[in-house]
Amino acid sequence: MPLQDSYTLPAAADMHVHLRNAPGPIASLVTPTIRRAGIDTVFVMPNLAPRPVVSVAEALAYQRALQALDPEVTYLMSLYLHESITVEEIRRAREAGIKGVKAYPRGATTNSQWGVVSFEPFHDVLRAMEEEGIVLNLHGEVPSSAADGVTVMNAEVRFLPVLKELAAKYPRLKIVLEHCTTADAVEAVRSLGDNVAGTITAHHLSLLVDDWAANVHHYCKPSAKSPEDRRALLNAVVTSNGKFFLGTDSAPHNITAKKGKGNTAAGVFTQPYALGYVLTALDEALARGDLPPGSVTDGALRGFLSEYGRAFYGVAPAARQIRLTRGGARIAESLKGEDKGEGEGRVEVEVEVVPFRAGEETWAVEWL
Ligand code: NCD
Ligand code: ZN
Repeated sequence: MPLQDSYTLPAAADMHVHLRNAPGPIASLVTPTIRRAGIDTVFVMPNLAPRPVVSVAEALAYQRALQALDPEVTYLMSLYLHESITVEEIRRAREAGIKGVKAYPRGATTNSQWGVVSFEPFHDVLRAMEEEGIVLNLHGEVPSSAADGVTVMNAEVRFLPVLKELAAKYPRLKIVLEHCTTADAVEAVRSLGDNVAGTITAHHLSLLVDDWAANVHHYCKPSAKSPEDRRALLNAVVTSNGKFFLGTDSAPHNITAKKGKGNTAAGVFTQPYALGYVLTALDEALARGDLPPGSVTDGALRGFLSEYGRAFYGVAPAARQIRLTRGGARIAESLKGEDKGEGEGRVEVEVEVVPFRAGEETWAVEWL
């Protein structure tokens, strides 16, 4: 049995988004698409360049700049785990309402060059996070290394011992294993306590490694994996029980960074159509037999898309509802924007960002 043609659900929460520098041309282009997607709350990643978000003051300035772009969205802010962060800064972060600290293993992904080589030097900071209820968000991959036999295919599985060590050493620390892509990651998250959860993106519910390798707009970290891995993610969505929730990892890049002369930038842009991608992937999984008939219940959708992420971060349930209607919208070929700059020496910047599955039909979103 396929999905229904229409769902009425609480507004969604997307617990892993990249909105880029604000003010800035990409942020101006993509931030207004959050609510169009049926989402009212986002957890914002701190991997800005040329300088990541490493202090409370920077996170709050970033939050204000995003609020100026759409004041109706709740922006949950994060810091980038960096040696300049002190225990006192963690205490201030909690007072300022900052929800998480994101750890990027150095060299694993976009803007991870300031990231973590070992967790050892961060012991006091992690202890303080555990005390203050600040979430540790993990980019769960070790960097590729031919010498160590690591490629994009096993980078996540090789990281899982680190997750388990952290969970054992800091038993009350809230941890999110971001963008799980393997059956092993799903199993690891399930095996750990209620303080450990995983996010799952929309695109990893449909892409396999072959699709991932065939198209620059599918290229992202972590890579998409095998049919068995995808099946495990799909099943984790519908049997989550609070352990897994939506974090799209929507990662917009200007088309020149995707298709320039150098290596293509990692990141799939899914923000404006995030929920439609999830429903389409679940529908396709039912048709393939990857999900048992009747497994996509209203409760499972509400939990994964809206309730579980909010509960994990301790934010209030959604106040508004949305209606999703099958086939009611078409994905744009691209989103274009420009930034006229300000004052003397202003530079005009034009940007173009291509969404996942450009041109295809998808679900329409209405706010009720
Ligand atoms: C992200 C980005 O572009 O910032 N890219 C990606 O492929 N997912 C970084 C990240 O979350 O790994
Ligand atoms: Zn990300």
